[in-house]
Amino acid sequence: MTARKRPEDLRSHRWYGATDMRSFGHRSRTAQMGYARADYAGKPVIAIINTWSDINPCHAHFRQRAEEVKRGVWQAGGFPVEMPALTLSEPFQKPTTMLYRNLLAMETEELLRSYPADAAVLMGGCDKTTPALLMGAISMNLPAIFLPAGPMLRGDWRGQHLGSGSDVWKFWAEKRAGNLTEAAWEEIENGIARSHGHCMTMGTASTMTSAAEALGMTLAGAASIPAADSRHARMAVETGRRAVAIAWEDVKPRDILTAESFDNAITTVLALGGSTNAVVHLIAMARRCGIPLSLDRFDALSQRTPLVANVRPAGKYLMEDFYYAGGLRALMASIRDLLHVDAHTVGGRSLRDAIDGAEVFDADVILPRDRALVASGSLAVLHGNLAPDGAVIKPAAAEARLLAHRGPAIVFTDYNDMAARIDDPALPATPDSVIVLQNAGPLGAPGMPEWGQLPIPKKLLEQGVRDMLRISDSRMSGTSYGACVLHVAPESYVGGPLAFVRDGDLITLDVAERRLQLDITDTELARRRERWQRPAPHYARGFGALYQQHIRQANDGCDFDFLEGTAPTPDPEIH
Ligand code: FES
Repeated sequence: MTARKRPEDLRSHRWYGATDMRSFGHRSRTAQMGYARADYAGKPVIAIINTWSDINPCHAHFRQRAEEVKRGVWQAGGFPVEMPALTLSEPFQKPTTMLYRNLLAMETEELLRSYPADAAVLMGGCDKTTPALLMGAISMNLPAIFLPAGPMLRGDWRGQHLGSGSDVWKFWAEKRAGNLTEAAWEEIENGIARSHGHCMTMGTASTMTSAAEALGMTLAGAASIPAADSRHARMAVETGRRAVAIAWEDVKPRDILTAESFDNAITTVLALGGSTNAVVHLIAMARRCGIPLSLDRFDALSQRTPLVANVRPAGKYLMEDFYYAGGLRALMASIRDLLHVDAHTVGGRSLRDAIDGAEVFDADVILPRDRALVASGSLAVLHGNLAPDGAVIKPAAAEARLLAHRGPAIVFTDYNDMAARIDDPALPATPDSVIVLQNAGPLGAPGMPEWGQLPIPKKLLEQGVRDMLRISDSRMSGTSYGACVLHVAPESYVGGPLAFVRDGDLITLDVAERRLQLDITDTELARRRERWQRPAPHYARGFGALYQQHIRQANDGCDFDFLEGTAPTPDPEIH
C-alpha cells in the first residue's frame, strides 16, 4: 500500500484546487448547490455510485443508505457526491439484466473517470449490479469499496419460511401439477418478498455480494447483514468513513485483487453452494485485473471445497438464518485452511484479521466440515464434443440418478418454440428424455438469460417427475435447481455443437468423468456443421448492435472484448 496522500495529490484537486478559469467554474457551480469552500476544499471527493431506482425492489432502501454513507463520509472529513447509475433490476428488466451488465460496468468506469472522484462507494446487490460495479471500478482502478444491499427478510406463508426464487419455481411446479389453488398462490405472492433487500436464498445476489466480501472489497461481515436490520445502516455509515480513508491511503482495487483473492472468492462461493452465475462474473472481473482465470480453476477448487452453508436452494435455510448463525465471516473462518488468509481487504486488514474471532452460532445452518451438504464437487465443469469450451452443472442441485445419464434429446430451437410445445401432450417425453434448448446464449437469446432451468413437461409433472436432464447455452438463476447443464460454449447461435443436436440423438452426461457427449460420429457432426446456417443478427443499431459485435462467450466471462485487460486509459484534461 502507498503512503498517505497530501490534499494537492488528490485527483479532485485538479477540479477544485487550481486557480484558472475552469476551476472557478467548478467552485462556483458547487457553491450553486449550497456548498461553501470549507465543505470540500482539501477533502477527498467520494463518489457514491447508487443503483437505486423506483423499479428495483432489492435497492428500495438505497436512497436512505446513500444518506448514511454520506454521514460517514462527512464524519471522516470527505465530500460525498451521489451519482445515480443504471439500476439493473432483475425482476423487471427484459430481456435480461445480463444484456446490460457491461453497460453498467462502462457507466461506472466512465462516471469515476469523468468526474472529480477520489474514491468510490459502490452500492449494489441485485444480481448483476455487483459484478458490473466492481468491473467498472477495477478498470478505473480508483480506490473503491462495495456496499452490499443485504438480503431481504425471510418470506412468510402460513407459518412457512419462503425463499424468493427457489420457492417460486417449486410452488409454480405444484400449481402446474394441480396441487395448489389460485387463492394459495395469491397468498404466496403477498408473503414471499416482505422487506427491501435482495433475494434471501443463496441466489446470484447473495453469492456475488459474498464473493465481493471474500475478494476483500467490502468491510468485514458486510455481505450477510439483512437489509432491514439496523446494523446494515450502521455498516453503511462505516463504509462511508472507510471510503475517505482509502482515498487518502490510495488503496486501489488492483492492489487488493490478486489470483489468490479470486481463489478465495471461488472457494467461498463453493462453500456457500452459490450460483453458477458467479463463474461468468468472476472470470470477467479477474480478466479486468489481468488475471487469466479459467473454468478449470473452478473445477479444481470445487474438488477440495465442502459445501457447508445449509442455505437454499442447495440446503434448508435462508440468508437471515445464515446471518444469525454467524454469517460469512463464520463460514470463512470454518474453511480458513482453504483460503489465502494473507490477502488484503479494503478494510485495511488481512483476510486473516477480518475473520479472526468469528464463531458459528448455529451448526445446523453453517455445518461442520464432517457434516457438509456435499463433501466436494458442488460445481462441475464439463467438456466433450457437445461443449468443447466447457459447460457447468451444479450436481448438488440435481437428483443423483441424473448425474450419470444417457437419454434421447428433445430439441427446442429457441425459447418461443419451447414455450409453445413443452406442455403439448403429444411431446414424446419420458423421465429419461434430455431437454435441449438452443439459441439461449450470450448472442443467441440475446443476453444469455436465466432460462437454464428448462421446464419439465406438464404431463411428466403430473406423473410426479420433478427433475430431468436439461441442457442449454443459457444461465440459470442462482435460486433454481435441477440437473441443468448450463453455459454450453461455444453457444449454438455461433455454431457451437449444441446447434447440431436433433430430436432422438442420444446424449451422455457423466459428472464423475466431467463429460458431456453427443453420441453421433465425428463425420455426422461435421456433416451437420456444413449444412448449418448462422441466424441473422438481432440488432441493426443501438446498444444491441454494439453488444453483438463485442460480447465474449460464457467461458470467457461475457465481457466486451474491448473492456478486458488493464491497458491504461488517459485521465481527462488536467483542469
Ligand atoms: Fe434482485 Fe433477486 S431480484 S436479487
